[in-house]
Amino acid sequence: MTILHLRRARTSLVLDARGPGLPRVVHWGGDVGDLDDDALRHLVDATVPPVVPSSFDEPPALSLLPEASAGWSGRPGLAGHRDGRDWSTSFRLDGWDVRDSSTDPGHLTAGGEVVGVLPADGGHGGPGAALLTVRASDPAAGLTLTSEIMLDPHGLLTVRHRLRNDGDGVYEVRELTPVLPVPAVATELLDLTGRWCRERSPQRHPWPHGAWVREGRHGRTGHDATLLLVAGTAGFGFGHGEVWAVHTAWSGDHVTVAERRPTGESTLGGGELLAPGEIRLAPGESYETPLLYAVWSDDGLDGLSDVLHAHLRARPGHPRSPRPVTLNVWEAVYFDHDLDRLRALADRAAHLGVERFVLDDGWFRGRRDDTAGLGDWYVDEGVWPDGLQPLIGHVTGQGLQFGLWVEPEMVNPDSDLFRAHPDWLLAVPGRLPPAWRNQQVLDLGRPEAYDYVRERLDALLSEHRGISYLKWDQNRDLTEAGHHGRPGVHGQTLAVYRLLDELRGRHPDVEIESCSSGGARVDLAILARTDRVWASDCNDALERLSIQRWTGLLLPPELIGTHIGPERSHTTHRVHDLGFRAATALFGHHGIEWDIASISAAEQAELAAWVALHKRLRPLLHAGRVVRVDHPDPAVWAHGVVDHDNTRAVYAVARLTTSVAQVPGAVRLPGLDPARRYRVRQVADVPAPATIERSAPPWLASGVTLTGAALARVGVQLPALHPEQSLVLEVDAVG
Ligand code: DGJ
Repeated sequence: MTILHLRRARTSLVLDARGPGLPRVVHWGGDVGDLDDDALRHLVDATVPPVVPSSFDEPPALSLLPEASAGWSGRPGLAGHRDGRDWSTSFRLDGWDVRDSSTDPGHLTAGGEVVGVLPADGGHGGPGAALLTVRASDPAAGLTLTSEIMLDPHGLLTVRHRLRNDGDGVYEVRELTPVLPVPAVATELLDLTGRWCRERSPQRHPWPHGAWVREGRHGRTGHDATLLLVAGTAGFGFGHGEVWAVHTAWSGDHVTVAERRPTGESTLGGGELLAPGEIRLAPGESYETPLLYAVWSDDGLDGLSDVLHAHLRARPGHPRSPRPVTLNVWEAVYFDHDLDRLRALADRAAHLGVERFVLDDGWFRGRRDDTAGLGDWYVDEGVWPDGLQPLIGHVTGQGLQFGLWVEPEMVNPDSDLFRAHPDWLLAVPGRLPPAWRNQQVLDLGRPEAYDYVRERLDALLSEHRGISYLKWDQNRDLTEAGHHGRPGVHGQTLAVYRLLDELRGRHPDVEIESCSSGGARVDLAILARTDRVWASDCNDALERLSIQRWTGLLLPPELIGTHIGPERSHTTHRVHDLGFRAATALFGHHGIEWDIASISAAEQAELAAWVALHKRLRPLLHAGRVVRVDHPDPAVWAHGVVDHDNTRAVYAVARLTTSVAQVPGAVRLPGLDPARRYRVRQVADVPAPATIERSAPPWLASGVTLTGAALARVGVQLPALHPEQSLVLEVDAVG
């Protein structure tokens, strides 16, 4: 029997592996039940498309690597050649093996050969994952293909291809992209785009014929990264609709594609975007694609997040300790580093309940502003005559963890490092890439540059007592990123991963944040080696509501840094009440980015109350199921987190702007057990927002008791909020 059926949670993947070519993907989506061999054969037969006029005489067989030789006339899964030959393949199936990782959690094997170690990249599996390895070759083209497919216990699928050159001479890979078919019922696409301070803006449209190709050529994940490319049934929302989505887990140039063919097929895929000549395989060498994550749900976008969040939370390296409330001093002091002022900030932070203090940019040699110093990773003796230890000691003495900002991949031309090694750059010979924030990118593919950076970071962590966190920043695109005259983004991306992996190996207790001009490096490959992301440099709570909502499609709240900024946002100049800022920052890895030394006693008291509220709710916020409300009025947003045994939840309702209707309609609170009764009330720990006069219902403070079904289907009428105000509701099961 060679029809493979992988089933986990509510998802099925059915592959027709009877050969002779690559397995045809018969179905990826909802569980089709426990099918015996006969039923599987019938399923395969029933899903073969008809032969139509003016077409191939055999219906095309769509595999995870579509080939023209199998009748595919869309984007090919593999584009490559050997000096103009071997440009089209016809892979023959050599074999496959499928295993359950709970019986063999250590290794990913193919035909007895160990091809990977679980979870080497942090993405693969956990106990109970189904692991399928497919081996194929095209002897005429001199190529061998190994595909690793994993369906984890939550229904999350990952696919990765490895291509080996077994022929004579160099084989150049131009593109190798795994794809998955989605059925014709998916007629709309949603993905994300953005820019600095406006990351992860959704864009949505019908899915026409052709290819919707999202390319990122930033040499980093990018502010405009797709994050998830979602295809779904008409009108899908957070809580309804059938949806299929993919994520390309790669922090360099990458492509994510939705293709719909007039021949009737629709696919989602993603892989690395390779420059000409970037991957040239010598005989015996291999190229491996990034992992393509794929997830299905018939519960709308929240259902996708359920699977993704459960997968991420099950990773062995997922942060387990309570996420420390963080003060980051960037917007408080910028480059103005002064020991006494920073100590005072730490004292105030400790008083307010903060648990981690992060010293941002500006502590190292020559770094008085953003024109100089990157690369010189020595403490600036002028600003810090006694080094950083007096501050670290003070911070840790207050019971806070200490974190330090670094930007290891970069160099300013105005630095000792650049003056000594002007050639250690990613560049095209004879010219510098255009400057960006006065900086260039170090070529970490050069062993001497890599060793220097690793040694400096290692020394910083070893020589100081008490640095337990790095804010790892990356503030420019890789432009004309040449390495010894050849394209260098692929090698640089792998070198960054290796650097992170080595440092984590040497300093396993140090947590690392992935920051990149705010949120330009948010992907599951960087998150396999870091502990949270900085979602955006925009701390404006109104903008943040959207940035966090959409970042949260992929990531659970505990991985998303969310800080309370100052009353007037530094990036938008909007002014917001503390309550609105704090309610927005509550739903993430909470922190503060504000000059708290200069705030009033009343603000201190309120801020401390919000920090305490976050700590009280943190076990729920950082482990529960995220739900987002499809409210008919676009001015009203609501979201919440429900614990896994449906006994508690917390929701926030935000008014973004005014509405045409005076009363926008009851807010439904989904996600609870329909049969249980719950008490709903405004959180009592923090001041209530100053709602429009007389509009607050009498039950708001004392509570109202309703079933989960009533809350989901009827909802509750809330007070009339002013624009840019939020209300936080706490929900507890009764009895
Ligand atoms: C960009 C980051 O996103 C900011 O938070 C801050 O760390 C600056 N870089 C420092 O240069």
